[in-house]
Amino acid sequence: MKLITCGLPYANGKAHIGHLRTYVPADVYVRYLRMMGEEVLFICGSDCHGTPIVVNAEKEGVEPRKLVDRYHEHFKKVFSAVGVEFDYFGRTDSDYHHEMTENFVKKLIENGYVYSKEIELAYCPKCKRFLPDRYVEGICPYCGAIARGDECDQGCGRYLEPGEIKDPRCKICGSKAEFRKQKHYFFKLTAFKEFLLNYLDRVKGTENALNYAKQWVRQELKDWCITRNLEWGVRFPGENLVVYVWVDAPIGYISYTREACKEKKCDWEEIWIKGVKKDQIKWGDITHFIGLDIVYHHCIFWPAMLKGADFALPSAIVASGMVKVEGKTFSKSRGYVVWVEDDYLNRGFNPDYLRYYIVNYTSHQKDLNFSWKVFMDKVNNELIANLGNFIYRVTYFAWKNFNGDVETSEFDEEVVKAVEKARDKIIKALENWDFKVASDAFMELASFGNNYFQSNEPWELIKRDVEECTKVIANCLHLVKALVLLSYPVLPFTMKEVAEIIGLEDFRMDRVCELEKVRVIKKPKPPFKKVEKEVVEEMEKIMKERIKRAEMKKAEVVTVEDLSKLDLRIGKIVKAEKIKKSRKLVKLEVDIGDEVRQIVAGIAETYSPQELVGKEVVVVANMKPAKLMGVESRGMILAADVDGKAVLLTPEREVPVGSRVR
Ligand code: 2FM
Ligand code: ZN
Repeated sequence: MKLITCGLPYANGKAHIGHLRTYVPADVYVRYLRMMGEEVLFICGSDCHGTPIVVNAEKEGVEPRKLVDRYHEHFKKVFSAVGVEFDYFGRTDSDYHHEMTENFVKKLIENGYVYSKEIELAYCPKCKRFLPDRYVEGICPYCGAIARGDECDQGCGRYLEPGEIKDPRCKICGSKAEFRKQKHYFFKLTAFKEFLLNYLDRVKGTENALNYAKQWVRQELKDWCITRNLEWGVRFPGENLVVYVWVDAPIGYISYTREACKEKKCDWEEIWIKGVKKDQIKWGDITHFIGLDIVYHHCIFWPAMLKGADFALPSAIVASGMVKVEGKTFSKSRGYVVWVEDDYLNRGFNPDYLRYYIVNYTSHQKDLNFSWKVFMDKVNNELIANLGNFIYRVTYFAWKNFNGDVETSEFDEEVVKAVEKARDKIIKALENWDFKVASDAFMELASFGNNYFQSNEPWELIKRDVEECTKVIANCLHLVKALVLLSYPVLPFTMKEVAEIIGLEDFRMDRVCELEKVRVIKKPKPPFKKVEKEVVEEMEKIMKERIKRAEMKKAEVVTVEDLSKLDLRIGKIVKAEKIKKSRKLVKLEVDIGDEVRQIVAGIAETYSPQELVGKEVVVVANMKPAKLMGVESRGMILAADVDGKAVLLTPEREVPVGSRVR
């Protein structure tokens, strides 16, 4: 039995395209393995512990479990809707997982890999509590950037150990934290250096993951603090502490395997325990699909933990590159995010389109950029114009002209070869997790099919040589069947529908090249629906608004003193004229009480000079003078920005010119 896992999503927020970047290829791989006749267990589940969840629950005023319930169900629903079909989707806050984790940790202790030490930790005197991970903010000791307690997320990206952060402040109440001593437990990661170097040399997987990991191990390893001051989590044996979320989360791979095996009647110990020897690596048939951001945990902490607790080791670690949205680094807080449910599924897009985009945009290890325009292009000009077009025109032709019944004993050498070549290429690519090459290969086969159909002109042939036409269409149907099977792992929803049209019931790789009769047994319909330009424009608008809202939210916090630096006054426009050669600018004379100022304002698109005269406006009177299009401006007029157009701010009723604005 092969075990395939995906990194466990935190049950802390909604599913976004960044998640799918890992899960979709994993699902493609699992479907492929099953087509090859392999027995596979595909598991995942919610990562329910850790401070981000506790902090968010606290903010919402609910128990952490409530929050977890909500997102756990959400993820289950979304995964099934995009065709990512796990055999088991567990939760780390379940009893079975707590039990598995406690036993695992006890084993590490028993084997001598855990020790305790007093350390100085951030403590909030006002909240009267220690401040683990996300409860604390301060300065990164390595690069000086503002950092969270567990990670320098805005600077050097380093993972921070408890107590490392400088100038800590409590995230909850904002008070300056102090350092207090407390006993914590450490995992002897340093004892695994040799083992890790050896393991990382031999484990399979993508180079991005393994190269980084080897470099880190060679540079330096530090023992790892594995306990935290929290209520929510798996209790550390005999202490009022919980184990760090990154200890219990990967153990989820084991506890979920055990649960899955109860349902599937397989042997979880066969996968994780049997045959383990102290001084050897026992390779489990285990492949972890993860994102590039969690390589350290999966290539360093996790193998060392497994070795230390006498478990089998994963045989492959496959890391997907990161995600960008509309060319910018993916970021929920900055608005560069695509929500799978709200932005995609609820708008009725075919999940197969997104699956294809994710595997076909670039190689699995590189950064993937999601853009709605490219999305439309890939659907309309690739899936529809090439693959869908071929499938539909062939099946429709066979249905209309032959009643779907096309018999031949003659297969063209070039067709047979093209199918074989595509199959071999796809198998080879998928064995190396090269999803881009694999999906390109079935698209190349579809192009071949279109050329074959076009150059044989069956619509002409049928008029003069029915037998020859029959042969051409039978060959085309052989190509259709191959395409259905070869693209099925990527496009399962659509290809299941096409399979029904040609009466194909099982998706097996060994049927791809089989020269058999393919019938069209149902009236064909085009497999894909076009993505309309208007829909994409609407999505782009939504994105823009989201980014704008995020920018506004992010604006720097200012104090009363900052604000008092501005000399804001009410002024009356006494004269206005357009500045020649400029679309936007008007030159104004504004009476601000003790003087009349010349101010240049970018409001010509919304106001004509005539309608400006007599208006009262808000003026920033102490702006540094500037020249705009060669005209001097000594001040600024305030306006609301409405889709790039200026709408002036005026007092609610007429007030004396020169009145201060506070
Ligand atoms: O980074 C994350 O989203 C983590 N929740 C992944 C955990 S994967 C595993 F170790 F369980
Ligand atoms: Zn506090």
